[in-house]
Amino acid sequence: EEAKNRIEKLRQELNTHNYNYYVLNNPAISDYDYDQKLKELEKLEKEFPEFFDANSPTQRVGSDINTEFVQVTHEYPMLSLGNTYNRQELTDFDARIRKILEEDFEYVAELKFDGTAIALRYEKGKLKMAITRGDGTKGDDVTYNARTIKSIPLKLRDGNYPEKFEIRGEVILPHASFERLNREREEIGEQPFANPRNAASGTLKMQNSAEVAKRGLDCFLYYLLAQKLPSDSHFENMQLAKKWGFKISEHARKLKNITEVFEYIDYWDKERKKLPYDIDGIVIKVDSLRQQELLGFTSKTPRWAISYKFKAERVRTQLLSVDFQVGRTGAITPVANLEPVQLAGTTVKRASLHNSDIIKQLDVRIGDYVYVEKGGEIIPKIVGVDKDARSPELPEFRFIDKCPECGTELVRKAGEAQHYCPNATSCPPQIKGKIEHFISRKAMNINAAEATVDLLYKAGLVKNIADLYDLKFEQLTGLERFAEKSAKNLIDSIEQSKTVPFSRVLYALGIRYVGETVAKTLAKNFKSIDALREATLEQLTEVDEIGEKIAQSIIDFFKREDNFQIIQRLKIAGVQLQQNNQGKQSEQILKGKSIVISGVFKRYSRDELKNLIEEFGGKNVSSISKKTSFLLAGDKIGPSKLEKVKKLNIPMVSEEEFLRMIGKIR
Ligand code: IVH
Repeated sequence: EEAKNRIEKLRQELNTHNYNYYVLNNPAISDYDYDQKLKELEKLEKEFPEFFDANSPTQRVGSDINTEFVQVTHEYPMLSLGNTYNRQELTDFDARIRKILEEDFEYVAELKFDGTAIALRYEKGKLKMAITRGDGTKGDDVTYNARTIKSIPLKLRDGNYPEKFEIRGEVILPHASFERLNREREEIGEQPFANPRNAASGTLKMQNSAEVAKRGLDCFLYYLLAQKLPSDSHFENMQLAKKWGFKISEHARKLKNITEVFEYIDYWDKERKKLPYDIDGIVIKVDSLRQQELLGFTSKTPRWAISYKFKAERVRTQLLSVDFQVGRTGAITPVANLEPVQLAGTTVKRASLHNSDIIKQLDVRIGDYVYVEKGGEIIPKIVGVDKDARSPELPEFRFIDKCPECGTELVRKAGEAQHYCPNATSCPPQIKGKIEHFISRKAMNINAAEATVDLLYKAGLVKNIADLYDLKFEQLTGLERFAEKSAKNLIDSIEQSKTVPFSRVLYALGIRYVGETVAKTLAKNFKSIDALREATLEQLTEVDEIGEKIAQSIIDFFKREDNFQIIQRLKIAGVQLQQNNQGKQSEQILKGKSIVISGVFKRYSRDELKNLIEEFGGKNVSSISKKTSFLLAGDKIGPSKLEKVKKLNIPMVSEEEFLRMIGKIR
């Protein structure tokens, strides 16, 4: 009872702190204090798994189990808005409404968030389901992923919200998260996302919610649907929804007429550059729900709302030259050097040209006048060529066929847009890039700046990652610009890296497509570098999350003699190349519990569940008694069983809750 109360209190407190932090942007305690409370709650929940709650603040980290999405029919179709780039059309929209309503009305103007739409269903104050737009009639059930978005409340705060309602909004990826994500993708040789919108929708549709949890999605809500809402005013209802726990934009305004709407548009056309996320326009809605109903819908869009889209800013400038950058994995990226021009408040000198296909498609030539846009994209891009201004003598652009850094013939794999330099062992930017990745914070966490890597490389001391472990203090102090103190720090830091766990070492090796998450999965499944090296394509792809592309990349990595040598040397140096067996004690999490299984289950058969109970130290019993710790409850449980459970006050745990309890899903 005491534990139960404490758990309840901690959950409530943490929910409030979450709300303050993620919704109100106004934290009331330090991160440290928050973490302490969260840790205490995690510990108690582990000790008392019977009080498990899928809506607990501890349950935001997602799960490593891949979930297939189930299609769900929208209760109310998910329509889009009529949109315009044109002010005259807004004046027409206003006149139309005036004519139909023949009475006073007010507008609400809102930001048009540039992300991906989501519908959230709540019942009795709890998040029941989250659905993507899909084709507007049916969408995908992405509840597992939505649960990881911290600004989406799992349990509502006090207030008289309707017993059952739906709230719609936009899942977005703020700039800071977008940039971090793309940096990480480039590190593992994945194509970066073109813009935050693509990244947000791609992330929301990922099958691994633990990965979703890490990406930093956010969600603004802007549309409530229910049998009956508290107020006739959309604006008022949104303010109430904020009290219930939803993140509602503070920039929405109630406006009296279309003139005020134009002012709002002008203001945000300038100010939007300062927002920490993308918007692509303004949405204008009639505020009164009664009037909205009078206006109704056309077949595709509501008559009571419209969106005004900002024009992407575009400028014309000259393409001076193209550089070819070589990444850690050997990927070649063409970068345009432009005659500097002002665009969206910054001076643009460079633009990405992505790959040879895009260059061909644009038929862009050096010396051309090109159009550069900064739409949703962070990095400006060339969107077209002013062909009328082209001088006739400009030669067609030729993509390089040799590496600009080492002269090796480039290759291009079937089905891939990118060219690669295959000289992984002696192409300088690839070598340095690999070493930099190896020592980075999330990998081996060896303390050395980029300049140090460059210095060690140029001095011939470090030509691959294994060389780091042969470095001697005297060699370092013998170098120019290397003080004794820095030499000692570097040696200590390298020594310290020998305690870095296997999964991070695996990530540090820089195998293409093996990011942090994949590395963890591989470490968990194969336990040692030798087992991983011996794994066949079939054995690799049998593992959840490991597709053919990743598997092939792992096999290619281990096929190389130089990689084999490096791994042998790392082994001798004492780097962790196998999983060490900590965490065994947690596997007895169900010790002393008697558990009754009843009903129909979605993910596992009853036999499998029974095995799981035993594996985790619990006992599966067949009939309910006072001694039953909890009922593992599926669908369609018989009424007599239910009654007995109620009478004896035995907790019911759903399949999902159970899997979380034993750490099968997180
Ligand atoms: S209201 C029935 N408000 O833009 C009208 N939509 O092209 C429901 N969007 O589907 C939508 N910000 O995905 C509304 N403040 C906002 C919005 C917004 C972004 C998106 C949404 C919608 C699309 C319309």
